[in-house]
Parts: sequence; structure tokens; C-alpha cells
Amino acid sequence: MADKSYTDQKNQEFFDNWATKYDGFKISPWFQYTQKLAIEQFTLGATSRVLDIGCGTGFAVTYLASVLGVEKACGIDISDKMVAKAQEKVLGEIKQKVEFRQAAADCIPYPSGSFGHVLCTNSFHHYPHPIEALQEMRRVLTPGGELVIFENAPDLSLYTWAWDRLLRIIEKGHVRYYTSHALGKLFKQAGFENPQLRVLRNEFMKYGKLFASIQVWYARKES
Ligand SMILES: C[S@@+](CC[C@H](N)C(=O)[O-])C[C@H]1O[C@@H](n2cnc3c(N)ncnc32)[C@H](O)[C@@H]1O
Repeated sequence: MADKSYTDQKNQEFFDNWATKYDGFKISPWFQYTQKLAIEQFTLGATSRVLDIGCGTGFAVTYLASVLGVEKACGIDISDKMVAKAQEKVLGEIKQKVEFRQAAADCIPYPSGSFGHVLCTNSFHHYPHPIEALQEMRRVLTPGGELVIFENAPDLSLYTWAWDRLLRIIEKGHVRYYTSHALGKLFKQAGFENPQLRVLRNEFMKYGKLFASIQVWYARKES
């Protein structure tokens, strides 16, 4: 098994370097599209409290607070530079609704039952201890609370499978992509009884991204 502090440290270094460039990437619109696609799976209202794990520069958090008008939107990220960038972008009256903290997905700095909704997009494949991370996401959910995870799906294309194998070698903070079957199994191991695979498809030429194999999972904390 990957050493936790080593992988987390490598992720922090890697994403600290990305923090100032992330919003300007050519595929930045694609990241925003994937976050909106994941958020669409939730049932949200004016009293909703949402936590985004691996929030990056905070697009989903500010979108939830400003456009969707939730009561509270929080984000955690292993990279303090990503967190600083996210914080810097929060302007005006949403300031009271929004909070960012530097933390790892497997050690979430909030009490149990704090959020009705937990989001995790484009980040889960970096986690050295995925079951602990899912257990932590479950812990901070209220009973009946919703979790949505967006990830790549290497079972859908040889391209995504090969890209995952390459990233495991060249990108130190990359742990692995999960097949939809493997990810579904992890949800169950972490205590989510009926996880639903809501999206599983290949996408071409969308929002600056040439090709992607994607999976979106939805799960509730039932007991
Ligand atoms: C590709 S970015 C995704 C950002 C955003 N969620 C999105 O969809 O655009 C991955 C993020 O996961 C964060 N990350 C990596 N490992 C993490 C961990 N163990 N705990 C929390 N965040 C982590 C990185 O710092 C980075 O900001």
C-alpha cells in the first residue's frame, strides 16, 4: 500500500504548483462542467449545507453559494495554495456562507453529521486511503445525506486505462483510477448500502477536452 504521508506530501507539492495556473488551463471549462454535472445529482435548497472534498480553487463551492444559494458551502483540499487561491476568489456577500480549510480527505476537520451533501470531483484518484476517505465523507453526512463522486472510468476505454497506468509512473500524487465496478465496491466497504452509478459514458470534444471516460456515483447515508 502507498505510504500515506509520502503520497499526500507529493499531492500537496504537485497541486501547490498548479494553484496559480489551474483556472487558466485549457480544460478548465471541462473541470467546471464536471463539477456542475456532479452538483446536479443533489437535491438542494436554501438551507442546504455542502462540503466539497479536494475543492481545488473553489469553483464548486462559490457556485453553490452564489448561483444555487445554499446556506453553507465549504471546501477542503490537501494543497494550502489551492485553498488560498479559492479563498482569494470569494467576494461580496457570499463571504459568510463560504469556508475553505486545508485538510486531507481521510481526516475531515468537521464534526459528524455536519453536512447534508458531500461532493468530490476529479480528486478521489489521488487518495492513498480511499476507504478511510469514503468513511470520513460518510461520517460528516447527516442521516439521509447525499454523496456524489465524479471520476474517470478506465473500464470504458483503453485510452483512459493506459493514461492511468502512465500517470501512476510519472505523476507521484496519482494513486489510481477505479473501474466502475471497483469504485462501487469501495462505497459498500465504506458503509454506503445502495450506491447508484448515475453516469457512465465516453465523451468527445466537450469543453476543451478531447476525450474522457467518466463515471458519476450517488450514495445516501441510509443508517
Ligand atoms: C484535479 S483537482 C480537482 C479540483 C476540483 N474538485 C475540480 O473538480 O476541478 C484535484 C484536487 O484534489 C486535491 N487533493 C489531492 N489529494 C488530496 C487529499 N488526499 N485530500 C484532499 N484533497 C486532495 C488536490 O490538491 C487538488 O486540488
